[in-house]
Amino acid sequence: MVTEVRQEAAKAGVQPVPGPTGMHLAVLLFTSAVSVGTFALDNGLMRTPPMGWLAWERFRCDIDCEHDPKNCIRQATIIHSHVHTVKLLFERRLVRENLFIDMADRLSEDGWRELGYVYVNIDDCWASMDRDEKGRLQPDPKRFPGGIPKLARYMHDRGLKLGIYGDMGTHTCGGYPGTPLDKIKIDAQTFADWEVDMLKFDGCYSNATEQEQGYPLMSNALNATGRPIGYSCSWPAYQGGLPPKVNYTQLGKICNLWRNYGDIQDSWDSVLDIINWFFENQDTLIPAAGPGRWNDPDMLIIGDFGLSMDQSRAQMAIWAIMAAPLFMSNDLRTISSGARSILQNKMAISINQDPLGIQGRRIIKEKSGIDVYWRPLSKDDSALVFFSRRNDMPYRYQTSLKKLNYTTGSYKIFDVFTEKTMTLKDSTDFVVSVNPTGVVMWYVSAPAKLSLRQLYKGGKLQGFAYNDDENSIPPVFL
Ligand code: GLA
Repeated sequence: MVTEVRQEAAKAGVQPVPGPTGMHLAVLLFTSAVSVGTFALDNGLMRTPPMGWLAWERFRCDIDCEHDPKNCIRQATIIHSHVHTVKLLFERRLVRENLFIDMADRLSEDGWRELGYVYVNIDDCWASMDRDEKGRLQPDPKRFPGGIPKLARYMHDRGLKLGIYGDMGTHTCGGYPGTPLDKIKIDAQTFADWEVDMLKFDGCYSNATEQEQGYPLMSNALNATGRPIGYSCSWPAYQGGLPPKVNYTQLGKICNLWRNYGDIQDSWDSVLDIINWFFENQDTLIPAAGPGRWNDPDMLIIGDFGLSMDQSRAQMAIWAIMAAPLFMSNDLRTISSGARSILQNKMAISINQDPLGIQGRRIIKEKSGIDVYWRPLSKDDSALVFFSRRNDMPYRYQTSLKKLNYTTGSYKIFDVFTEKTMTLKDSTDFVVSVNPTGVVMWYVSAPAKLSLRQLYKGGKLQGFAYNDDENSIPPVFL
């Protein structure tokens, strides 16, 4: 069947990506997800990709709280005051100038938490340069005077979770104290004592041998604390992201997610570079992902300075196809309504969060600069993304569901960003207009469900005939 589809695709002038495509692949991947799943990190966490906010890309290592109080990495400042009322006033003010508290407030008050964005993650530059007298990491006393437990409590009181950052090595990438091999146990215990919910474990200042020991040791140490702590490993990113240096079977057993590739920056070039790497290596990466174990192409930069609205939709759509963790790194206090509505798009989020947890793939890379991505979803549904690499004007891409390996009749289509719906036969040619560096994203409902709905429309049996008067949108979908 796959060969037939290929021949047909070749006739139609499209180039399917080599290797198994279409529904056969879904079955194949699903089987492997189930069998490998039993060995996954045994903390029961992150059965769907984690979602939340992470400080790094937008706020970096800004520790200049004197000149940049709103944006620096801190929990609060110490203000000594003998007059009680003045102190309260000050405290209220400083709470407003606190990055992590601010983001927690936004997540819980602006509709993010209900959509699944629950992690508030501290990145580098939170720590004091010195460990305490017992050898434990401690936060910078000026910037985190209340300590991390207070921050964790603030999150938990609001139904949010707190993430923290560490580094397998002598120093963090920003030059703060790292976690060398002999400090792994004590640091895991410290994070658990602080009631932290997630650890991003970076890999600066260590070699391959130390990493090979350190990442599994930290996994065990976190499990041994008895506190469920989501574990994000940067290990593969330090080893080129590919076998034989990277063992994805092992990673799936010890980490909940892992960074495979370099850091995202606030630019379209950077997003495109990441997309290219992940899909060029999709045959290696797709089987690694599944419930509890995710490839992490890095943060969402939607709402920052580098992406147009089309590019923002493209990042959201392709991260959803990839079953990527959705950690926004932006300023939720000032985010535009356009960026917010892309990040809060319920259909895109539900595609990202699909419980089957099968990472999607690029099925077509056209010479014209159009890529088509496909992700199988639960209940035989699926998602499609048409992506344009072009730089000229909206491109009218003509294809049919049959050419995209759909073979079972009529499907209900829901356009994720325009919210239009239509019904489409697999054999019908249609045209999508894709903006330069933009996407069209579809949620495709399985034919079985459609025919049942059609069949019993209005409570009466309608017969078997294909009936589209309910959705009389023509097959040109602009
Ligand atoms: C590395 C990581 C980034 C960030 C910085 C912090 O570069 O990949 O995500 O955590 O370190 O210094």
